[in-house]
Amino acid sequence: MKITKITETALRDAHQSLIATRMRTRDMLPIVEELDKIGFFSLEAWGGATFDVSIRYLNEDPWERLRSIKEHLIHTPLQMLIRGQNLVGYKHYPDDIVEKFVEKSYANGVDIFRVFDALNDIRNMKKTIKVAKAQGAHVQGTICYTISPVHTLDGFVEMAKDLENLECDSVAIKDMAGLIYPVDIYKLVKMLKKETDLSISLHSHSTSGMTPISYYTACEAGVDILDTAISPLAWGASQPPTESIVAALKGTPYDTKLDLKLLNNIKKYFEDIREKYGGLIDPISEKIDTDVLMYQLPGGMLSNLVSQLKEQNALDRYQDVLEEMPRVRKDLGYPPLVTPTSQIVGIQSVMNVLNGERYKIVSNEVKDYIKGLYGRPPAKINPKIAKMIIGDEKPIDSRPADLLEPIYEYYKAEGEEKGIIKKDEDILTLAIYPAIATKFLSGEVEEEPLSSKQVINPDNKFEIPTNYTVEVDGDVFDVKIMPTGYLNIEESQRSPKGDVEGGVSSTMQGMILKLKVDVGDKVEKGDILAVVEAMKMENDIESEFKGTVENIFVGEGDSINAGDVLMIIKQT
Ligand code: CO
Repeated sequence: MKITKITETALRDAHQSLIATRMRTRDMLPIVEELDKIGFFSLEAWGGATFDVSIRYLNEDPWERLRSIKEHLIHTPLQMLIRGQNLVGYKHYPDDIVEKFVEKSYANGVDIFRVFDALNDIRNMKKTIKVAKAQGAHVQGTICYTISPVHTLDGFVEMAKDLENLECDSVAIKDMAGLIYPVDIYKLVKMLKKETDLSISLHSHSTSGMTPISYYTACEAGVDILDTAISPLAWGASQPPTESIVAALKGTPYDTKLDLKLLNNIKKYFEDIREKYGGLIDPISEKIDTDVLMYQLPGGMLSNLVSQLKEQNALDRYQDVLEEMPRVRKDLGYPPLVTPTSQIVGIQSVMNVLNGERYKIVSNEVKDYIKGLYGRPPAKINPKIAKMIIGDEKPIDSRPADLLEPIYEYYKAEGEEKGIIKKDEDILTLAIYPAIATKFLSGEVEEEPLSSKQVINPDNKFEIPTNYTVEVDGDVFDVKIMPTGYLNIEESQRSPKGDVEGGVSSTMQGMILKLKVDVGDKVEKGDILAVVEAMKMENDIESEFKGTVENIFVGEGDSINAGDVLMIIKQT
């Protein structure tokens, strides 16, 4: 008789999956002590998208959230999800940042680090694992589970052995798309139990509808820990419900021994939370989406795009995007789809379809991915596509972070000069998200209102669909796509719109990440003028002709709309 342990995800994955990661700390704290009484293996409460969303949309310091949750947790280990060398961001950070980030996370309250890499490239996980182990933390090495012609159960077992050799305390099977079949998880857990001494945790989403059955067969195969979410924040794109799993295992050899009555009190609290954040829940993310079985894509990823396309009578594009995603994934060597590869593949697919030409616009992330800067793809990248995007440049073969210079001291100096550093952790926030953290740390970010669902402007005078909402990993992005030179429907005081002679405009809504030129600079055709961040991807804006920069209307960190004129180049 073995007790199955439970990791409760209400404070991280569940709200990331259902309400775009928008739960506020003030809505978490009143229930933490109750959660602490249950006897969970751990409470997943930090990391993933919570860090980014806190500073970008909630005007909340993620470090303060961590500390205040930890204060109320006496018995239950606090768990975070950490993206290996990507930490809580979308790109690789140098080792000095990884080291300090993990140290500070531990010091502020993280007990269990669930470490993964989107490409299952161990080289990208080593540093995080090593530093977390050195702190004395429990390290859960993670296998990103996916299905592809190059992924096998044997391959996953080999990876688990590597994680064991790195002295991980346990291994997590991360089924981020919620597509694992009961028979496969049974086999995989059996194999892992036989080949390693690690305890095994299963993390899945309810997307395909099979997950509770997969959880049961995982129990039969000897799984040690299951991830669940309290029922008001369960199902659909989130985890299976805690109470249901606890009840279902009662009286079996896999009993959790958790108290359903205590769980019921917690459920009542989260029913109110669900009500409060109800406006953020997309009905599609609540549903079972069996498309995941057909296309092997995370179900929630395109759900919002679907509803927007429906409203605009352009559903034909949905099928195009759906079919494009597996093609892009294949082109890129079958990466598992999880942050950041889910964004990289997802946004590229949307761009390929909406621009009417594949890889006409390519984000810097896709370029870097092809250069090997994210690590080793599971299979070879389509050489034709690689050539088209990076030409004859040879991809790197080494551990990507080996190429990165330390940046901690740079951001420390920069932050101190700007007077925005109050504690060491602020330097890390700045180093991970330079543009948005500068705004946040300067007090320029306002908490977004709770009912801030994007409403399509009824006066939208364009017949063609231009507004899309794209959901990636539970984060909702509003995207506007317009041909350059169109007048924008929204007024802006900041910069002129539309057809200005020599005007350089953005085709996407986003934020100016970098300005590469100054007024008076001479530019050649193809020179990079600015880098725009849209949907977490970086896109270069290039000069279309030779000329001189006559005027610049935007600054780094400014939000821009599609069609905004960013600068004027006088043609020479
Ligand atoms: Co998840």
